Amino acid sequence: MPVLKIVNCMNSVLRKKCLKVENIDAALVALADNMIETMYSASGLGLAANQVGVSSDLFVIDVGIDKEKRDPVIIINPIITASEDKIMAEEGCLSIPEVFAEVKRSQRVEVKGYDLKGNELRYEADGFLARAFQHEMDHLNGVLFWDNLSKVKRDILQRKFKKKLKAIES
Ligand code: NI
Repeated sequence: MPVLKIVNCMNSVLRKKCLKVENIDAALVALADNMIETMYSASGLGLAANQVGVSSDLFVIDVGIDKEKRDPVIIINPIITASEDKIMAEEGCLSIPEVFAEVKRSQRVEVKGYDLKGNELRYEADGFLARAFQHEMDHLNGVLFWDNLSKVKRDILQRKFKKKLKAIES
């Protein structure tokens, strides 16, 4: 399975709402497999399709986050159906490398969607996994984690990111 290129936050594909998946075909299954490979290769615990340049409504997430055992799950057309208790914690993103910030998220969520066979999925998550679900859902809606911060904080992080980008490119 090839590792795909992860686009960074300067790419406009991350700003568009992803399109609902209508058909689960061989191309989508291959994309999902490659996304899992890409996520682990980048030491990530979640990856949305638009992060590899595909504006389709699916993400991969490691639901074994709290067990230190790999357990990748693909969720197609996901929705958050319930959430409660906001909590602050540090967060990062594979599309904004080396930038971290405290973001307020729900402590518990219920997520529904479909697997690659078209079967309904339902997850209840709390803590870090709940946070990861919300982060990936945001991606599918064209939202980046720093959008949840004040403009001042976001500007600081964006400057930090652009500096790092320059350092990488030079
Ligand atoms: Ni991210």
